[in-house]
Amino acid sequence: MIKALRGMKDILDKRFLKIFDTAREVAETYGYEYIETPILEETALFKRSVGESSDIVNKEMYQFTDKGGNDVVLRPEGTAGVVRSFIEHKFDRQGTPKRFWYFGPMFRYERPQKGRLREFHQFGIESFGEASVYEDINVISIAADIFKALNIEYTLKINSLGCNICMPKYKEKLVDFLNIHKNELCEDCQRRITQNPIRTLDCKNKNCQAILKDAPKITDNLCESCQVDFEKLKKGLDNLEIKYEVDKHLVRGLDYYTKTTFEFVSNKIGAQSAIAGGGRYDKLVEFLGGKPTPGVGFAIGVERIIDLVSVDDVRVGIYMGAMIEEAIPFIQKEASKLRQNEKVFVETKVKSLKAHLKAADKGNYKKALVVGVDELKNGEFFEKEL
Ligand code: HAM
Repeated sequence: MIKALRGMKDILDKRFLKIFDTAREVAETYGYEYIETPILEETALFKRSVGESSDIVNKEMYQFTDKGGNDVVLRPEGTAGVVRSFIEHKFDRQGTPKRFWYFGPMFRYERPQKGRLREFHQFGIESFGEASVYEDINVISIAADIFKALNIEYTLKINSLGCNICMPKYKEKLVDFLNIHKNELCEDCQRRITQNPIRTLDCKNKNCQAILKDAPKITDNLCESCQVDFEKLKKGLDNLEIKYEVDKHLVRGLDYYTKTTFEFVSNKIGAQSAIAGGGRYDKLVEFLGGKPTPGVGFAIGVERIIDLVSVDDVRVGIYMGAMIEEAIPFIQKEASKLRQNEKVFVETKVKSLKAHLKAADKGNYKKALVVGVDELKNGEFFEKEL
């Protein structure tokens, strides 16, 4: 028997649609527009944006050469494609903000476990052209509103990664610290000292974590403007009554972030606890060849929250059934009229009244309309509320 690939799942769950509908509704109330970009993109796009030293690019990409000899990748995340599209459609030249939401599959060749899939879905938003930290607050509040509408409890963690003035100076300080402790660090962190030192801060190795407790922190080394923005961020979240924790080790696994970074985590879903992540990426548009344009966004992991979502099992719609074959065309015609207002299911198998009522009950319909010889003659239905 052929089965779905490891780490990939069929979606047979109406909670999936509830998440999609809710997230879309919230994003649209904030003035966001729909965008869908291709699932397959040039490998270079992710190497340049997510970063060559990230685990995603280094170890987890579904990368291959297509029949035309192009080096391509099944997208591991949504931001890079949206930025590519933003530049390709010359929105960077219009100089006005542009805000998008998207929903779709992402692919990472990770070791599958609970909450970690190889094909998973993200609902994401990206806001372009607004450098103000108040935009970051808006963006975070979209995620908070989505979780509120879905009745999901979370902890929000925030941090700032500074800008190209304070980050390089901080990196030097951190590297000095790491070099002193080099021999005590895990192999990965030893490699990170030269490749991507800030990623040592969220190393999962207990020994590294103990050492890095005493490492210099970026939030203690921000330039004045980044410091002011970080304070405004905290005040702005307080103002909207969105609770948060400052996590000085929150650096995120993608290289494009500057200033604000954040993650929503849940303590109800096991080890893979991040339910959404995002931040500001003010250099990315320029880095991918566009006109310098600030950006900020996030993505929610749909499979991570699905078990936290419940759907009401209220009865909806009408069930229609025939007790004689001759009644089927009649109910099909009537159903097409009724369908203008509500969900109507037509059973095409002839059954007894009892069998129809049982099926309507099982299907969770709120009403059954059944037609037999007499009803057909009079152009009526046997009607039962369920
Ligand atoms: P990310 O943190 O890599 O960020 O992914 C966002 C969310 O996707 C995670 O918080 C998690 O819920 C979910 N996720 C990630 N990997 C998996 C997996 N293997 N299985 C199931 N769920 C997963 C990004 O992707 C950025 N593009 C977010 C962003 C948008 N930043 C700015 N704009």
